[in-house]
Amino acid sequence: MRPSERPLITADAIARRVTELGDAISTDYADRDLVMVVVLKGGLFFAADLARAIRRPMALEYVRARSYDGQRSTGAVEVAVVPERPLAGAHLLVVEDILDTGRTTQTVLDMLADMSPASLALCTLLDKPVRRIVPVSANYVGFTIDDFFVVGYGLDFNERYRELPSIHVLE
Ligand code: XMP
Ligand code: MG
Repeated sequence: MRPSERPLITADAIARRVTELGDAISTDYADRDLVMVVVLKGGLFFAADLARAIRRPMALEYVRARSYDGQRSTGAVEVAVVPERPLAGAHLLVVEDILDTGRTTQTVLDMLADMSPASLALCTLLDKPVRRIVPVSANYVGFTIDDFFVVGYGLDFNERYRELPSIHVLE
């Protein structure tokens, strides 16, 4: 298994889309300070670029969730790292690498909703709607893709390929 030679989504296309998402989020949060909740590890690269495309004050928090063993969803989701400070009354924007079955994201959203935030929204770089099992939808989507397993720009296959600048299909 290795990444396709030709990217599915190039680094340039990602950069352009991140700028657009940053503009939209800056407008939507014009009168609210936001807390970006980065879902590790996959969301790391996207969140780092998105944060710099949002021209609004923000704070960063991190959560760590896993549901995947290689290419196969195990169904079980664990939230291993949780925000350090109380987030009651905060405007939370969860930043994910990919929305697949929806199990991981729903688990994270439920955990954050229990903290009584003032608002809770979701931004995902990639959306694979055909794979959805839990009916979760994102407020901001970078790219909608077909049912490919993809790597690069934060996304891994057994911890490999996160560092690739573009997104590739694993073949
Ligand atoms: P669920 O099914 O809970 O899964 O929505 C979300 C998590 O699964 C991983 N995932 C992928 N990782 N390429 C990856 O590198 C993929 O195509 C892919 N699809 C799902 C990812 O960790 C995501 O947070
Ligand atoms: Mg992940």
